Amino acid sequence: MIIVNNILDLRATISAWKQNGLSVALAPTMGNLHAGHLKLVNSAKQKADKVVVSIFVNPTQFGINEDFASYPRTEQEDQLKLATENTDLLFLPTITDIYSANALTTVKVSGLSDIYCGASRPGHFSGVATIVCKLFNLVQPDIAVFGLKDFQQFTVIKTMIRDLNIPIELLGVDTQRESNGLAMSSRNNYLTDIERQLAPQLYEALGIAKTAILAGQHSYATIEQQAKQSLKNTGFTPDYFSICSSHDLSSATKQDKDMVILAAAKLGTTRLIDNIYFSL
Ligand code: PAF
Repeated sequence: MIIVNNILDLRATISAWKQNGLSVALAPTMGNLHAGHLKLVNSAKQKADKVVVSIFVNPTQFGINEDFASYPRTEQEDQLKLATENTDLLFLPTITDIYSANALTTVKVSGLSDIYCGASRPGHFSGVATIVCKLFNLVQPDIAVFGLKDFQQFTVIKTMIRDLNIPIELLGVDTQRESNGLAMSSRNNYLTDIERQLAPQLYEALGIAKTAILAGQHSYATIEQQAKQSLKNTGFTPDYFSICSSHDLSSATKQDKDMVILAAAKLGTTRLIDNIYFSL
């Protein structure tokens, strides 16, 4: 695995690959890699000749009271895991490589960035869209791979690609779960032992709501309310539990066939997100 710390070397390696007719897939990450990230690498490997993984804890997607400083940084372990998965190139830029002090441009996907997680985390999705757009420009991959656990993030990126005519094929990879159903996330490390036992109930609530919809229950507002109440009873502080169209995340109507249920809730101080998607 080639490890690259600067943009010049990154561009040189990738342009040499491209001159040799090789296709490139990019899996952007913030490190602290778990099996979900390695699944991204494997999916990328099936689609392209060369796989690039970036690790960059992106400051602009964290709010001022969020966990940027304490976000787990496990560079040595991450390098070993990626080498074992036969990653071709690991891009490890510094903050100053990525953001010049006089930068004036950001990317924001309007509307989509202000709902659900965007409502609770103002500026988050603009930070994500901006870094992802920059990584796309730096790596110029043919394919980009993202986990579907962050379904709203995936939709923001899908919309950015469409709106800015970015010539990249986007691949969404199913959420990797623990055997108890808990979606893998670097932030699960923040959970206490007791919270860890409760955490799978977020996915259980999503499954119950999906079953109700598949059984023909049409009062989505009632299903959402019941799910939030049952999460509260378990000890969660729900942020949102929303039944949406999986195409654009608008509130689902009876006419919608492709659905996603998005949920976010806090357990103690840890904010968990998850979703379940299906077609009627
Ligand atoms: O999903 C993540 O880990 C991050 O939001 C991403 C896409 C790497 C951008 O920093």
